[in-house]
Amino acid sequence: MTTTIPDGRWSLAGRTALVTGASSGLGRHFAGVLAAAGASVILAARRADRLRDACAEIEAAGGTATAVALDVTRPDSIAAVFAEFAPDIVVNNAGIGIAGKALDFPAEDWDAVVDTNLKGAFLVAQAAARRMAAGSGGSIVNIASILGHRVAGQLAAYSASKAGLVQLTRSLALEWARHGIRVNAICPGYFSTEINDGFFASEAGEAMVKRIPMRRIGRQHELDGALLLVASDAGAYMTGTSIVVDGGHLVSSL
Ligand SMILES: NC(=O)c1ccc[n+]([C@@H]2O[C@H](COP(=O)([O-])OP(=O)(O)OC[C@H]3O[C@@H](n4cnc5c(N)ncnc54)[C@H](OP(=O)(O)O)[C@@H]3O)[C@@H](O)[C@H]2O)c1
Repeated sequence: MTTTIPDGRWSLAGRTALVTGASSGLGRHFAGVLAAAGASVILAARRADRLRDACAEIEAAGGTATAVALDVTRPDSIAAVFAEFAPDIVVNNAGIGIAGKALDFPAEDWDAVVDTNLKGAFLVAQAAARRMAAGSGGSIVNIASILGHRVAGQLAAYSASKAGLVQLTRSLALEWARHGIRVNAICPGYFSTEINDGFFASEAGEAMVKRIPMRRIGRQHELDGALLLVASDAGAYMTGTSIVVDGGHLVSSL
């Protein structure tokens, strides 16, 4: 057999992809990447104005994009989206981070982080998988974090939610392989977006960058290979895995 690389297995032509948290940062970028690979993309988040701008940008570049209001902490909102759409690819990207010392961390902040990053991802995956199982399967991509593997001060709720998301990825992969649904996670290191706005210019941020073996934070396009691999048929035999994209941060010297 002759192999040509890149071949059609990387193409998302004919697929529909839904990205949660697509109104800013990585989610907005991921929607553009999936559209450029040929998918019709559905951009979901709470801020409708931002979604409209992102859709216009994708369409101006020749892609197909639709905006839909979604709050992943509200089961009724998730049900409404999946009553309307049956995507083949779902990127569970919506996430928040609230920093604070564990001794004083308010229970409502814990709930906000875990309800968005972990429970929200589960409920979206469940709603998506019900549609995928009734159709011809699909790919779910959970955006976790290197904080799902290691810890950092004052981020207990965030780290716990992302570690939970890594383990949820494995559990769902085990249960849903029989339905033709692959579930994988991407664990980014540090990339500059609104979630960490200002941190990299601070003293602590600069000190942190020095501890990354590659001595810099990531560029958004450096996540594209991992995303397209698990979203497309190029990763057809991959499920339950977590891909780390972090400039070597997880292997930094102790
Ligand atoms: N940036 C990094 O260095 C980094 C590293 C590792 C992991 N991550 C993960 O990557 C993902 C994206 O983060 P980002 O850096 O791009 O941050 P961001 O710019 O703050 O984007 C977060 C997105 O999540 C959406 N969102 C928050 N709560 C939501 C809710 N209840 N329902 C629906 N959407 C919600 C926000 O949209 P609305 O406010 O419009 O709803 C926004 O689009 C997160 O899961 C984050 O934990 C980021």
